[in-house]
Amino acid sequence: MSRWDLETVYVEKKDGVAWITINRPEQRNAMSPQVHFDMSTVLDELEFDDEVQVLVLTGAGKAWCGGQDLKLFFKELDNKPKERTKAYSASQYWRWHKLFTYPKPTIAMVNGYCFGGGFTQLIACDFAIAADDATFGLSEVNWGIIPGGFVSKALNECIGMRDIMVYAMTGEPFDAKEAARSRLITKAVPGDQLEAETQKLCDTLLQLNPAVLKATKEAVKNVRNMDDVPAFDFLGSKLLELQFVDKENGRAKGMDQFIQDKSYRPGLEPYKRSSTEA
Ligand code: ACO
Repeated sequence: MSRWDLETVYVEKKDGVAWITINRPEQRNAMSPQVHFDMSTVLDELEFDDEVQVLVLTGAGKAWCGGQDLKLFFKELDNKPKERTKAYSASQYWRWHKLFTYPKPTIAMVNGYCFGGGFTQLIACDFAIAADDATFGLSEVNWGIIPGGFVSKALNECIGMRDIMVYAMTGEPFDAKEAARSRLITKAVPGDQLEAETQKLCDTLLQLNPAVLKATKEAVKNVRNMDDVPAFDFLGSKLLELQFVDKENGRAKGMDQFIQDKSYRPGLEPYKRSSTEA
């Protein structure tokens, strides 16, 4: 295992997985401008790190993310337009532009509190697994702001209007079971099984062809606002592109394993990558 420490974030790399931890436990991992700068650096770096195939995003201590830092991100930047612009740009860059279509699978491992602006990266991750005692909340309405940044838009990507209205317009906190019911998260698990459940999902993803995972994610996420004709065109092009960028040649070899060798059934298992390396 190797470890990389930044001022507000640390990364542990182990067996193909980068465990990224926002490390401001005393402030409940509230996002200061420095968190945004550090997370931007981390995501840019790990994108090209061949040792890393899957990313897990979590928080130190009892919070996953306490939202934007009300003091350092909001109040102290009120009269500093240049610093505010830099912090806002970094904040949107890593939490949505980068993370939503990150070229590797991403998992939010929600260990505790998740509030306000933290919803953006929660929704941007491909999967979200939460400890059943984690607490979620859109607290903005309690103190005179809206779920801004990108939160209101991101919510519409993954849950229905009835649930958004309850969360955003009452500001009342809710638990992981409720978050799973509304599909804000993938699933809730007992707290003492959170890491093991996350590792299990990592193991599944690690067995799969990374080029195919990347293309699948781009396909699903990029067509969501397209009309039918451009969507057909985009998906057709993606499929063709995959045959050129997939170094494992998974399509041809997977078909051989099924049709000729009869050594696997694609409906039930991944094809055997070890025997397909170019
Ligand atoms: N911004 C700045 N500081 C924060 C934040 C935050 N979002 N969240 C927690 N902190 C700080 C507290 O000020 C406190 O600092 P101090 O020790 O210097 O007094 C420290 O973290 C611990 O906070 P407590 O409230 O004592 O911790 P507790 O475990 O009792 O409660 C909780 C945690 C529920 C997360 C609470 O701190 C809270 O309600 N925080 C605000 C959450 C929120 O509304 N976030 C949305 C922000 S708006 C947005 O993101 C767009």
